[in-house]
Amino acid sequence: MTEIIAALDEKRRQAALGGGQRRIDAQHGKGKLTARERIELLLDADSFEEWDMFVEHRCSDFGMDQQKVVSDGVVTGYGTVNGRLVFVFSQDFTVFGGSLSEAHAEKICKIMDQAIKVGAPVIGLNDSGGARIQEGVASLAGYAEVFQRNVMASGVVPQISLIMGPCAGGAVYSPAMTDFIFMVKDSSYMFVTGPDVVKTVTHEAVTAEELGGAITHTSKSGVADLAFENDVEALLQLRRFIDFLPASNREKPPVRPTSDRSDRMEMSLDTLVPDNPNKPYDMKELITKVVDEGDFFEIQPDFAGNILTGFARMDGATVGIVANQPMVLAGCLDIDSSRKAARFVRFCDCFNIPVVTFVDVPGFLPGTAQEFGGIIKHGAKLLYAYAECTVPKITVITRKAYGGAYDVMSSKHLRGDVNFAWPTAEIAVMGPKGAVEIIFRQDIGDAEKIAERTEEYRQKFANPFVAAHRGFIDDVIMPHATRKRICRSLAMLKDKKLENPWRKHGNIPL
Ligand code: HXC
Repeated sequence: MTEIIAALDEKRRQAALGGGQRRIDAQHGKGKLTARERIELLLDADSFEEWDMFVEHRCSDFGMDQQKVVSDGVVTGYGTVNGRLVFVFSQDFTVFGGSLSEAHAEKICKIMDQAIKVGAPVIGLNDSGGARIQEGVASLAGYAEVFQRNVMASGVVPQISLIMGPCAGGAVYSPAMTDFIFMVKDSSYMFVTGPDVVKTVTHEAVTAEELGGAITHTSKSGVADLAFENDVEALLQLRRFIDFLPASNREKPPVRPTSDRSDRMEMSLDTLVPDNPNKPYDMKELITKVVDEGDFFEIQPDFAGNILTGFARMDGATVGIVANQPMVLAGCLDIDSSRKAARFVRFCDCFNIPVVTFVDVPGFLPGTAQEFGGIIKHGAKLLYAYAECTVPKITVITRKAYGGAYDVMSSKHLRGDVNFAWPTAEIAVMGPKGAVEIIFRQDIGDAEKIAERTEEYRQKFANPFVAAHRGFIDDVIMPHATRKRICRSLAMLKDKKLENPWRKHGNIPL
């Protein structure tokens, strides 16, 4: 018996070593942690239950039968983050470069299947050279099995990808189908074809970092949501992030007790909106002053800054925040911001997270770049997402809500449950100047007349009361009472039930 136990211990020791000390040292030399060290940091101490440690690949070509490494380049299992269940796979770059074999894929699929059954998030720590080249099509089949499960899990359990090394070719499409992608600066990259192929095909000289590094994907392409300095920061922030999410679509968002009173007044908000309607102010200030303890976990902070998205808590429970940001492009909706917010709203709707929307939007961004780029289709994504969404929706218009953008931003007409406006709100077809220049075109040469007409229009329409008279705004509230009014509304909406008509699925303008 002792011998058998010793043999088991030896196998476990081998598994812990992955591709061997030399490769572990090389991994550390690049500033990266190993697959197991990452899991240790991500999960609560002593909570990891490993599965399939003894799995080996079945390939015998190219001398592979002589190169078997237990676990086959991926560590899988489940554990807890702050006491809550999560499933995790962590690719081991020290074993065949973390490349995906048939057996490696089966291990990932097994935990994904289980996560869907029990209703818990799947976290993928990606660090892989892609398809195991020696295995050929068996490896491609493995990828497709994972892709299929990504789609089946979508909207059932949260899926989060942390890119901590290479992720190239078709391999990028598994993270792409997960809900959130976090990357590590300088040590991770994602691209469909690498710099060498790019050079051959388009004659562009580009480094891997420029083509698909963390900064590129969090600021240019919008493929990734957040970039972190190193493995440790990424894993610790992922722990913080998981705390905001329900474990599955069967759960309500988690509640964390807070000492921040739900009726806290924030007097400084009464002067947040400047007197000059063309002057920007920082919408993030409003968000952090209204949510519990000022804790706002922003998603995609470096992409489409004209809209803010992220998670926070109100009276302890998670909410999704969407807010126009007047500091960037005056808060206009454009292609990128529409896509960014639409995907965020849909995530919240999948997982029963109420959406709180702060509106200060002068309209859609004009221009050929926007029209040629398809702002019509992309803007429609956000409209569709809000209209389809059945979770509690609370809207606060702080200043401008003009034109089609007023409709889009969680208006009463898109089944907004509670729609508030600050006294500074201007809800109209367009701004006074633009409106007067159209309806009083004949007076354009007469500056005095135009100024008079503009003032008349401002008095008549640039306020929240025209909309409030019609019940499109439920109440005009004092800015300092915003937190209290939102918290009360959320409490009222706690058991909201709303279902869309049966259909196989809608056809969102992709
Ligand atoms: C088998 C691989 C491998 C792979 C790396 N290795 N990638 N083994 N299959 N795909 C092995 C290497 O042989 C090496 O083994 C070890 O992993 C580390 O690799 P290095 O090249 O020494 O590391 P580094 O210099 O850091 O470069 C990492 C890399 C490079 C950029 C990822 O290894 C690379 O370009 N690999 C090939 C990438 C690729 O073309 N993959 C297939 C893409 S197609 P030793 O024994 O020396 O440690 C694809 C399709 C997916 O993925 C389709 C889905 C639908």
